Amino acid sequence: MTQTITVIRGDGIGPEIMDATLHVLDALQVGLDYEFADAGVVALEKTGELLPAATLDSISRNRVALKSPLTTPVGGGFSSINVELRRRFDLYANVRPARSYPNTKSRFESGVDVITVRENTEGAYSAEGQEVSEDGSKAVSIATVTRKGSERVARYAFELARSTGRKKVTIVHKANILKSTSGLFLKVAREVAAEYPDIEAQDMIVDNCCMQLVMRPEQFDVLVTTNLFGDIISDLCAGLIGGLGLTPGANIGKDAAIFEAVHGTAPDIAGQGKANPCALLLGAGQMLDHLGLAEHAERLRGAIVATLEARDSLTGDLGGSGTTMGFARAIASRV
Ligand code: NAI
Ligand code: MG
Repeated sequence: MTQTITVIRGDGIGPEIMDATLHVLDALQVGLDYEFADAGVVALEKTGELLPAATLDSISRNRVALKSPLTTPVGGGFSSINVELRRRFDLYANVRPARSYPNTKSRFESGVDVITVRENTEGAYSAEGQEVSEDGSKAVSIATVTRKGSERVARYAFELARSTGRKKVTIVHKANILKSTSGLFLKVAREVAAEYPDIEAQDMIVDNCCMQLVMRPEQFDVLVTTNLFGDIISDLCAGLIGGLGLTPGANIGKDAAIFEAVHGTAPDIAGQGKANPCALLLGAGQMLDHLGLAEHAERLRGAIVATLEARDSLTGDLGGSGTTMGFARAIASRV
């Protein structure tokens, strides 16, 4: 049976990096069918909606989407499309791998291989309770952490570790100060950890974890944490290995999963063929793993590493002068 995936080409550099990614997927001969759907400003211009019902239906039907970055217009009362997608499909785990690659001009060109698993639906980013008093003198935000939300994301992290042969999961928290929310998360995550005696479990306070990540990132394997800490830590990890052009993200739910690059629409370089397609390509790799096509995913990642090693057609962010499609062709020739 052929698997159909929803493909959202997105805004800014989105269409360029998506064309490049589909070119490489075609070369891999994965045999996926693509159902194209619009979201973001492109959709707003065509249909008057940022997230048309047809796009939501397509994701519901196919359960897997590959998505380029989207522009949420500032002002006009639009809520973030990405947050809306996470909420709509209850995409509770945000999975962001960061590993060293050669020739990236980054701080660590070897030794880093860490996956941040971030709770994606609650915590400090809960929809309710973001309030400022009428006179503007006081702001209150409510963070909600639930047993259910903590348990499912912790379980996802330990299952991920087990299924990918990883050895250690670090539970990142601030339970010494945020006794209620971070305390509950830590308690529940430790309970889940006890069910996985084959995986080493460790917990670490978030500020110490940040310092350790910068000084000795090789000690980490899988990190699991609440929404706000995960947002920040995953960007820190991206910074260790060469930045936004190389970091993908998966948004995983029970009924749907959306794979993307961590970066945005890069309006400063859009339409110029300068964007690095690797982050979305690596997101496509996570998607192949999710679809049970691990062998294809490995070939894809191997081709990216080989192309970086050869310094073949690298884009400007990696110190080269190649184009988005040129880089993709170089990768495609190595799959
Ligand atoms: P950005 O990630 O788009 O750009 C930050 C910097 O990184 C820019 O200098 C850009 O040129 C560079 N960059 C990003 N991706 C690159 C790539 N693949 N290759 C080479 N260079 C790259 O972040 P910014 O400027 O804060 O946001 C721009 C827009 O993107 C905003 O409208 C924002 O809402 C949206 N956005 C969308 C996201 C999504 O759909 N997942 C995520 C983050 C931002
Ligand atoms: Mg972020």
